[in-house]
Amino acid sequence: MVAQGGAAVKTRGMLELGQNAGTDCWRGGFSDLQCVVMPRKRKNAVKRYHDRVAGVYDHSYDDAYWRWHDELTWDHLKGFLPNDLTLPVIDIGCGTGKWGLKLLKSGYQVTFQDISHKMLDQARLAVKKMSGESKAMFVQGDVADLSDLPEAHFAVVTAFGEPICCSSAPAKALREIRRILRPGGVVVATFDNKLAAFDYYLSQGNLDELVRFARDGRTHWLTKEVDEQFPIKTVSPEDLRRLLEGADLRLVDMIGKFVLPVRQHRALLEDSVARRKLAKVEKSLWRSEAGLGRAAHLQIAAKPAP
Ligand SMILES: C[S@@+](CC[C@H](N)C(=O)[O-])C[C@H]1O[C@@H](n2cnc3c(N)ncnc32)[C@H](O)[C@@H]1O
Repeated sequence: MVAQGGAAVKTRGMLELGQNAGTDCWRGGFSDLQCVVMPRKRKNAVKRYHDRVAGVYDHSYDDAYWRWHDELTWDHLKGFLPNDLTLPVIDIGCGTGKWGLKLLKSGYQVTFQDISHKMLDQARLAVKKMSGESKAMFVQGDVADLSDLPEAHFAVVTAFGEPICCSSAPAKALREIRRILRPGGVVVATFDNKLAAFDYYLSQGNLDELVRFARDGRTHWLTKEVDEQFPIKTVSPEDLRRLLEGADLRLVDMIGKFVLPVRQHRALLEDSVARRKLAKVEKSLWRSEAGLGRAAHLQIAAKPAP
């Protein structure tokens, strides 16, 4: 978590936040029942939080580590993009528009989708700045309910920064994504890796919470604002395989992001030769089973099952 301009900003994913342990933090805390019957205030927590930080969000990612993160994320994503630029693509949980804007610049027609109005406003501004309005659409809503969007329409769905894990119903969110994907289309998305979160629970010394977390992978975002503490569902690689299968999606690739803990050695990333070497090693590891266990996030590509 990075505090900037008075607002706390979620770093990319829960696990990295746990490692930083700044003013805001994350922890487990919902029983299954509480997750199902969430008070209305909490239900909107994810929206409330992201609305609050939208204006300062981009500043927190302007450093060598995040440039490295984005380069490698794009390297993986671009291998799944179709050559036909007339095909519609959608960036779910688009935030301020980082990935949707890259897709727009590449020439695709892009729908920007997010639960937070304020994040969408930022994305809209950025699209306007690059005069991309004619090829962009904006849709506000929850990834678990994409009923405003047509069936079998999109050739690519991206969902980065773990919006599916933040959704009230991740399995339903994946079924919705499956519904809007056209045959042969692809979803490329990231998830919070449950395996990387155990250190945090150990460090808290609360073994009951550790046992509960081991069982259900549920945690929540803890900011100082109690009504912004939205629930998060973390998944292991096995959980993710099962979730995708349950949504009638066929896994075509899974990588760990990242296996090398470069975030703790970010000075290395200032040098371009070192960055290239690190990228080469990272890519040689990121599909290994051991690598999947080590990474804070899992990035998958999946297609509609035949
Ligand atoms: C960590 S940010 C990532 C933003 C962007 N994808 C990126 O990679 O820079 C997560 C985004 O997901 C959005 N989000 C969270 N839960 C969501 C949900 N249930 N449905 C749609 N968007 C959601 C948040 O509002 C936020 O903009």
